[in-house]
Amino acid sequence: MALSMDKIVSLCKRRGFIFQSSEIYGGINACYDYGPLGVELKRNVKELWWKSMVHERDDIVGLDAAILMHPKVWEASGHVSGFTDPLVDCRNCKQRFREDEIDPKKLEKRQCPRCGNVDSLTEARQFNLMFKTHMGAVEEDASVVYLRPETAQGIYVNYKNVLDSSRLKIPFGIAQIGKAFRNEITPGNFIFRTREFEQMEMQYFVKPGDDEAVFNQWREERMAWYVRLGIRKEKLRFHQHGEDELAHYAKTAFDIEYEFPIGWKELEGIHNRTDFDLSRHQESSGKDLSYFDDSTRERYIPYIIETSAGVDRTLLICLVDGYEEEQLEKETRTVLHLDPKIAPIKAAVFPLVNRDGMDDYARKIYDELRGDLKIFFDASGAVGRRYRRQDEAGTPFCITVDSQTLQDDTVTVRDRDTMDQDRVPVNGLLPELNKRIWGKNG
Ligand code: GAP
Repeated sequence: MALSMDKIVSLCKRRGFIFQSSEIYGGINACYDYGPLGVELKRNVKELWWKSMVHERDDIVGLDAAILMHPKVWEASGHVSGFTDPLVDCRNCKQRFREDEIDPKKLEKRQCPRCGNVDSLTEARQFNLMFKTHMGAVEEDASVVYLRPETAQGIYVNYKNVLDSSRLKIPFGIAQIGKAFRNEITPGNFIFRTREFEQMEMQYFVKPGDDEAVFNQWREERMAWYVRLGIRKEKLRFHQHGEDELAHYAKTAFDIEYEFPIGWKELEGIHNRTDFDLSRHQESSGKDLSYFDDSTRERYIPYIIETSAGVDRTLLICLVDGYEEEQLEKETRTVLHLDPKIAPIKAAVFPLVNRDGMDDYARKIYDELRGDLKIFFDASGAVGRRYRRQDEAGTPFCITVDSQTLQDDTVTVRDRDTMDQDRVPVNGLLPELNKRIWGKNG
């Protein structure tokens, strides 16, 4: 049976991954809070991305720009005039829709997709997706600032600062992880489309003419990253944007799509933004944003290849891809097959029973391991139920202290996916876990 999003939503709430924002007040639409397990998973996903983009490479550096930027940034970038969706209203049921999401047959009849009334839809008007707020004590037009709808612009306006303060030469990249905000007309499907979300973006600056080859390299590299994250290959594909889909800044764009429970949808965008952004900022700010190439004595505005991934969507695919209701002999086991590298809890430690010193022994193991790994201790309830709780949380390993432990200082290590148990000496536990989690010795 196909997996429904409701199952994921319910698991997330039950186990403390994700909650509706402001739930005690009835919730606020399309905003979510990450609970104790969700925040760990999110940190792990972001850390893996950062590691592969910044730490493992010598041609990319990091940045953390402010969310609020000079309003001229968004005029120059084209977002004030062009970051819009076509909005139509139903005169009958008052519901709002994105015109480009309505079935063409219904649209022709101006028929409302919700109440079915014909000739009911208004003409489309362009709705800007940027959230506005005011800076300073006076609320006047001159004080309007925007919450950034993408992190990318923080990188473009800092490109000269980074270049002047580092020894980078083209080609090089700048990476950033941060919040972005969009007043989406049709948010929904849990954390798939929200109004506040996080992006992991990397902008790679290249010589014009090299852009297409570099674009293709990044397309492949980004797809490979999801596979390394443990996502099933057959659930991932590319989608090339047609002329009518291209964002106002892009010459070529490919999405990496995942087969969500709601169908194939965008997970990450890879864009050839040409010299569009830097040229616009140069023109608007009056500052020289050209690059001088020492080796060829050429001066040019670099082209930019962008990889733009959503943190929340990446999290969602990890949950969806890993979710399984496994039919056992007497029960159904819900298990999250998260890659150990991103699992919120790496191992849980249990005393088999709370007597004969097993509890103290287990606690000692827990205390020793938790300096290195995120570990959970659980001594309550039947051990089978403790295993099930960890299966649902995606914990890859459970360590159990039993009566044999007290005799020979070995414990059982249970694997979440196979449910196999091996006996491991306590003094070799940390290297063994490290090997199983990271694929190498501690
Ligand atoms: N700087 C380019 C850019 O922002 P985008 O395709 O509009 O490109 C990139 O967004 C990624 O950000 C998407 O692939 C998606 O993962 C994430 N994203 C965009 N809007 C989102 C929303 N409303 N909720 C959650 N994630 C979103």
